[in-house]
Amino acid sequence: MAEVVIVGSEAEAGEIVADSIQELVAQHPDAVLGLATGSTPLSVYRALAERVRSGRADLSAVRGFALDEYVGIAPGSPQSYRTVIETEVVGPLGLDPARVQVPNGTLETIRAAGADYERAIVAAGGIDVQILGIGTDGHIGFNEPGSSFASLTRVKTLTEQTRRDNARFFDSPDDVPVHCITQGLGTILRARHLVLLAFGAGKADAIAAAIEGPLSASNPASAIQLHPHATVVLDEAAAAALSDRDYYRYAWANKPEWQGL
Ligand code: F6R
Repeated sequence: MAEVVIVGSEAEAGEIVADSIQELVAQHPDAVLGLATGSTPLSVYRALAERVRSGRADLSAVRGFALDEYVGIAPGSPQSYRTVIETEVVGPLGLDPARVQVPNGTLETIRAAGADYERAIVAAGGIDVQILGIGTDGHIGFNEPGSSFASLTRVKTLTEQTRRDNARFFDSPDDVPVHCITQGLGTILRARHLVLLAFGAGKADAIAAAIEGPLSASNPASAIQLHPHATVVLDEAAAAALSDRDYYRYAWANKPEWQGL
């Protein structure tokens, strides 16, 4: 099962995950990170950016693959995940823009974009650490309920719920694209380490279903139960609906020093 870590704040979660990434990059300067967008991973990016600023970490050789992108959105528009990755990740973390890829949501080339992205990930030797957030409907990446556990990068139709959740980034809810291109659950499961973060009461039910519920395509995040090395970092509110909270805390408190995240 996944290792569940319950922390006091988003900032604490960011530091724990940044520690692990910093350690990985110290050993493998060109490590490959899977990069989620949205609000959830910001504490990790902030913690890493601070380490880069203070000279404690150098991420300039790190390679990155974003999880997803909207289809048909202008690449330079503020809502495109390419822009978000550039402003929130590439710049602050001192990554080399040429080493960071985002699925190509351009309409003209969309038919080949999924297979192209899969080839690029394989050519990079696979993803070392995949950072994930979770949607209120249980999606990871933009794998909405019903997504196959074997799915690869492809175009998906966003649910109305996801479009409503993401409307805060757009001028009007109608502007949220209907389609996206996302790494599949199969793509995500190939990453060597999954780190799923969630904060706030709004994520509590989705997290409980993902970690303690049955494996089901209806609950895409439950796919992480199939992964041999998955870490779930939660604040108290997001952990509130888990039945085995006491055990997770006990296991974390007794975690062997040598083990790392
Ligand atoms: C983002 C992504 C999504 C988000 C999820 C949660 O690249 O793939 O799965 O992680 O929608 O979004 P936030 O973090 O904004 O609550």
